[in-house]
Amino acid sequence: MQENPVPLFDLKKQYAKIRGEVRAAFDEVLDSQMMIGGAKVAAIEEAVAKYCGVKKAVALSSGTDALLAALMARGIYRSPLDSENAGEVIVPTFTFFATAGCVWRAGAKPVFADIDPDTFNMSAESLEKAITPRTKAIMPVHLFGQCADMDAIMEIANRRGIPVIEDCAQAIGASRGGVKAGAFGLCGCLSFFPTKNLGGFGDGGMVVSNDEHFAEEVARVRNHGMQPKYFHRSVGGNFRLDALQAAGLLVKLPHLDSWHEARRANAAFYNEAFAGEPKIKTPKIDPKNYSIYNQYVVRVPNRDEAIKTLRANGVNCEIYYPLPLHEQECFAALGYKRGDFPVAEEVARDCLALPIFPELEKCELEKVAEQLKRAVK
Ligand SMILES: Cc1ncc(COP(=O)(O)O)c(C=O)c1O
Repeated sequence: MQENPVPLFDLKKQYAKIRGEVRAAFDEVLDSQMMIGGAKVAAIEEAVAKYCGVKKAVALSSGTDALLAALMARGIYRSPLDSENAGEVIVPTFTFFATAGCVWRAGAKPVFADIDPDTFNMSAESLEKAITPRTKAIMPVHLFGQCADMDAIMEIANRRGIPVIEDCAQAIGASRGGVKAGAFGLCGCLSFFPTKNLGGFGDGGMVVSNDEHFAEEVARVRNHGMQPKYFHRSVGGNFRLDALQAAGLLVKLPHLDSWHEARRANAAFYNEAFAGEPKIKTPKIDPKNYSIYNQYVVRVPNRDEAIKTLRANGVNCEIYYPLPLHEQECFAALGYKRGDFPVAEEVARDCLALPIFPELEKCELEKVAEQLKRAVK
């Protein structure tokens, strides 16, 4: 058993294996001095579109900007001259802040939906209740690397004629019924934040879509809404991806499936280790889903105490997420209150993310499992 604490993630181990390739790719970009756009950005767009099984991909500056650009490209954007907001967008209340933050920044009203207690993803039943005549889009999140119930969500969306913008920030390569995340709705929004399964060397993101016209609109929004040069049909932003990021991602992409598999093997180890522990609820993966385990999140009754014990005994862990979005201070004016989304509120109280990154060693997995079992006793 090693003495060093088990980190929640260790990016250095992965980098050590591909260091030579990454530095050669960076040198190529540096020598070209084509730092924004160019061949590397075009190449990563093509490669990720192929990987996700969609027609088009537009590289962007972050996952957050991918969400915002997708909304703006769909015309969900409030101008200073509009007297009303840009309509409503339904998001799960249990997700990373960016999902709802982008809706707000676009000038639309985030409308929250509760989640499923097993998958932590948006509940189709709660979604249906949240729809109004002002609903402009539905944004399901494929949380922790597992697809939301896209059969039910797409059925509702198609029946009502509402576009679906998938938040795939944590789910590149995840699939449901053989269809990859991002290929169900109007588009999918990816994040290349360094701790994602495909992490860049800084911020980065992408919109993937089967709708070529929509992808062109996202590309226009990415560059201040400009097309042709110095002519602006609508207002956009600077949402461009650096060529250095594209070069790094191109080196990493061929390894992605093996990294997913390593995460899945780690998850299988934990599932088995916790099988006889009724106090530890392991993540449930819908049988139609292939999870890429961006996070491995368990539920334990004495979560806050368990974290202290784990940390004191050399196991790093994290809470994703301690407070659902409908209870966040910045959204108080929306008028939600505690009790509105009981499942999300309960999960926020007892969820706990354990180390799951691909390069974890067997002794580290054993230490995490042993310490968590002790911590819940
Ligand atoms: C669900 C979700 N949506 C959006 C984002 C935003 O991505 P980024 O950090 O690349 O801006 C994240 C990133 O953590 C996320 O987890």
